[in-house]
Amino acid sequence: MTVVVAKDAEELAVLGAELLARAIHGAVAARGRASIALSGGTTPLPAYERLAALDLPWERVGWFFVDERAVAPDAPRSNAGAIGKALPAMARGAVARMRGEEPLEAEAARYEAELRSWFGVASAVRFDAMTLGVGDDGHTASLFPGTGDVRLDGRLVAAIPARPERGLEARLTLTRPVLLEAASVVVLARGAGKRGPLEAAWAEGDEDEVPARLLRAARGEVTWLLDEAAAPASS
Ligand code: 6PG
Repeated sequence: MTVVVAKDAEELAVLGAELLARAIHGAVAARGRASIALSGGTTPLPAYERLAALDLPWERVGWFFVDERAVAPDAPRSNAGAIGKALPAMARGAVARMRGEEPLEAEAARYEAELRSWFGVASAVRFDAMTLGVGDDGHTASLFPGTGDVRLDGRLVAAIPARPERGLEARLTLTRPVLLEAASVVVLARGAGKRGPLEAAWAEGDEDEVPARLLRAARGEVTWLLDEAAAPASS
């Protein structure tokens, strides 16, 4: 794994955009198209805004989502809504939105079929690049600790039920096998609150306790893009 510590929020955004742009150019040069999966949350949005200003082969990019909340795209909690605003140029390519407003189990199956058809039914679902975040509780994508969801491996996309007693809303998420298969994963984290979860994610242990730990088993290149406040002392 690679750890990059940006000096401030602006540099974090610039570097995040550069990593994505590099993956897009490389994939288009090699295979004529790029397959990118984006996470929501607040941290990556400035990187997406930077990416929007770059000269890219937009028509050759297929955009997917790592996870989505069970809301319509115009709702404030919608990842697709927030990402679409930060990166309007994605509409020049193919955008495959997770439909959080649909019944989630059926939508997870539909999105899985969409992934299979994009990548080819006999091929691995291997994104050229994927962004992820880390929650203060150690979650990544919508795989939350203590739920067992990180162990879901029989499917590519899962419907995650709400767990109101823990303040967790219902969501859709790509599963561990898809996260592990990505050629390049860029994890973005900002702020001192992320330092503990990052240390825990890098240490050996139970993935259900700290789902971001699953990245220790990633097949591709994982770049941890952090600001100084988030960076553990060991980095
Ligand atoms: C989401 C995410 C989630 C996020 C982390 C970190 O939809 O919320 O995909 O996994 O990446 O919660 O979020 P922040 O960037 O807001 O800290």
